[in-house]
Amino acid sequence: MQVNIAKKAAAEQAATYVRPGMTVGLGTGSTAYYAIMRIGEMVRGGLDIKAVATSEESEQLARAQGITIIPFGEVQKIDVDIDGADEADAQLRLIKGGGGALLREKIVAAASDRMIIIADEGKVVQQLGQFPLPVEIIPFAWELTFRKLEQLHARPVLRKKEGQLFITDNGNYIADCHYERIADPEALHAQLNDIPGVVENGLFIGMADLLIVGREDGAVREISR
Ligand code: 5RP
Repeated sequence: MQVNIAKKAAAEQAATYVRPGMTVGLGTGSTAYYAIMRIGEMVRGGLDIKAVATSEESEQLARAQGITIIPFGEVQKIDVDIDGADEADAQLRLIKGGGGALLREKIVAAASDRMIIIADEGKVVQQLGQFPLPVEIIPFAWELTFRKLEQLHARPVLRKKEGQLFITDNGNYIADCHYERIADPEALHAQLNDIPGVVENGLFIGMADLLIVGREDGAVREISR
């Protein structure tokens, strides 16, 4: 599929920012998959790096590719974090969490010197919100948390996968919030995280340093913050 060419192109360009000796944050999703595969090739070719992963799925993939995953207790700093996004605007504000890994992704991004986002053209938007905003909530009294989200006009839907309730790697639920247009992402971010029961939301603001956008012909463009 052409979109896979775009994702792969962005991911492989991002891998060129990985240098010997670095600790690398590995994202989650179908675009991050290509970055992990490329970094794996580089490691097998002799590149000496360490990595941390943002999901159990990415950790397993990385290990299978021969990438050394270190425990977070051994991390001094993360030099570069390479991850995908569901939407990105011109200010490199993001919606993430389509794959349900937003909490771990945000923890790793916040600990990284540099966050590189990789995406196909379809993810670049004028205004955030068309993609339902994932919000990670704890299972305890989730109905009460839902009511608070409804008061913020979120139109939340509890995420399911193959007919079963989706459970994150952290044992939580995801409420997908249908805003359609998010006029003030900074304000919404604060309002959502102010609700007891919300663990984290999928708005990433002021975190991405570089956006690499892949095109279906394999070309890439870079947008810095
Ligand atoms: C996972 C994420 C992903 O980065 C996001 O969903 C993009 O995924 P994909 O590259 O498969 O489109 O935030 O929690």
